[in-house]
Amino acid sequence: MKQTLINVIKNMLSKKSTDLFIAESKNTELKKTLNIFDLLILGVSAVVGTGIFTIIGSAIAGSADGLGAGTAIVFSMLIAALASLFSALAYSEIAAMIPVAGSAYTFTYATMGEFMAWMVGWILMLEYAIGNITVATAWTGYLVQLLKGFKHILPDFVVNYPLWLRNDFRSMYAICDKYGWDVHDKMPFINLPFGIEMPVAINIPAIFIVFVLTILLIKGVKESTRVAGIMVFVNLSIIISFVIVGAKYVAPENWVPFAPNGFEGILAGTFIIFFAYIGFDAISTAAEETKNPQRDLPIAIIGTLVLCTVLYVSVALVLTGVIPLGNIDTQAPLAHAMRAIGKNWYAGAISVGALCALTSVLLVYQLGTTRIFYAIARDNFLPKNIMKIHPKFKTPHIITWLSGIIVILGSLFMDLNISAELCNYGTFASFVIICIEVLILRKTEPTRYRPFKVPFCPLFPILGIVMCSCFMIYKSLSGGDSSLYFLLWVIMGLTIYILYGYKNKRNKEDL
Ligand code: ALA
Repeated sequence: MKQTLINVIKNMLSKKSTDLFIAESKNTELKKTLNIFDLLILGVSAVVGTGIFTIIGSAIAGSADGLGAGTAIVFSMLIAALASLFSALAYSEIAAMIPVAGSAYTFTYATMGEFMAWMVGWILMLEYAIGNITVATAWTGYLVQLLKGFKHILPDFVVNYPLWLRNDFRSMYAICDKYGWDVHDKMPFINLPFGIEMPVAINIPAIFIVFVLTILLIKGVKESTRVAGIMVFVNLSIIISFVIVGAKYVAPENWVPFAPNGFEGILAGTFIIFFAYIGFDAISTAAEETKNPQRDLPIAIIGTLVLCTVLYVSVALVLTGVIPLGNIDTQAPLAHAMRAIGKNWYAGAISVGALCALTSVLLVYQLGTTRIFYAIARDNFLPKNIMKIHPKFKTPHIITWLSGIIVILGSLFMDLNISAELCNYGTFASFVIICIEVLILRKTEPTRYRPFKVPFCPLFPILGIVMCSCFMIYKSLSGGDSSLYFLLWVIMGLTIYILYGYKNKRNKEDL
C-alpha cells in the first residue's frame, strides 16, 4: 500500500525532459509558417480588445465593483504593464528555450512534473476559453450598438431584436432587475418536473461569431493570422486616429484632480485594466508553428507589450482630457467621447474598430485553446484521437471544434463579469507559475542554451510572482463569486486527472 502510494506520487512528479519535448516538436505535423510579423499580429490582436474599447471606461470612472482611478489610470496601466512585463520576460526565456506548442502547460511539464502540468493546462483553459466567453459577449454589445447606428435604414426587428436572443440568462435577470421588468415578460421559460422553471436566453451573435471563427481556424493558421492582420490594421488605425483627432480637444483642466480616489483608486483601476494586457502569452502557444522561434518569440512578446502600453496611455490621456471625469461613459467610452466633441460619424467608426478588435482577440484565443488541448492530448491526459489532423488543412480540426463548442456552451451560462474575473484568475495563476519555472530551470538546467535570458534574475521573476499573487489575493479578499468559481474549476481539474488522466496516461504509455 505504502509502496503504491510512493509510486503514484513519483508518477505525479515525473517530468518530461526538455529534449524530448523539442524532439517531438520536430516531428510535428503542424506547419511551420509563422514569422516575426505574424507573431506581432498574433500578439497585438490577442491583447488589444475589450480592455481598451470597453473596460477602460469603468477603470477611469469606477463602477459598482470598484473605485475609478481618474486620469491616474495611466499609473494603473504602467503597474499592470510592469506585472505583465516580468511575466513576458519569463515567457520569452522559456518559450525560446522550449519552442513547442502548449505554452505554460509544456513548460510546467518540463519543470514541475505531470500533475502540475495537467493543472496548469486546465487553468490555462480558463484564461483562453473562458476569457473568450467575455470577449464574445462584448462583441454582441458592439454589434447591437453598430446596428442601432443604422436604425433609420434597417428594419426594426434587426435593430431591436429580442433581448433574450442577445444575452445570457444571468444578464437577462440583471437587466430586468435594473429596469423593474418581470423576467417572464422578457424571456421564455421551459417547465421541468418538480415545478422547476428553466430560463431560455441565447446570445446568438456571440454563438455566430465563434462558429465562423472556428471554421476559419480549421482552414489554417496562416489564413487565420492573415484575417487577424486585417483586423489589427483596422482597429489600430481607429485607436491611433482617436488619439490624433481627440488630442486637439484636450482641456488640461479635465485632468484635475488627477487621482480622485488616491492610491486605492489606482489599485482598483490596475486590477480592472489588467484585462487589457492579457493575451501576449498567446504568442508562445504558437511556438511550434514559428519558423525561427529562438529569435522571434522574445522580440514579438516584448514588442507587443511596449506597443500596447504606449497606445493605452495615449488613449487614456486623450479620453480623460476631452471630457470631464463625471461624463465618461462605461459602455462605449471612446465612441461617447467622440460624440461629446461633435464627431458623430466617428462614433460609428469606433464601433467598427471595436468589432474588429474583439474578433481578432477571439480568433487568437481560440487558436490558443486548441494548441493547449493538442499538447495535453499528445501526452495522453485526454483521448489522443481528438488530436487528429485534418487531411487537407493540416490543422487539429476535432480539437478546434471542441474549443468552439466550449465557448458556445459557456456563453449560455456565464455573463461577462464572471467570465472576465475567472479569466483573470487563470492568467495570474499561469503568470506566477511561469516565473517560478524560470527560477527552477536556471537551477536544474543551467547549461542549456538560452537565446534570451530574463535580466536581473532572480529579482525580476520574484517581482512577477509577488505582483501577480497580490492581485489574486486582493481579488479573493474583496469578495464576489469568482474566487469560489475558480476553486470549483481547480477541483474539477483535479477530479478529471484522478478519474481519467492519470490512468489513461499509464495505460497508453505502458503498452
Ligand atoms: N486583452 C484582451 C482584451 O482586452 C483580453 O480583450
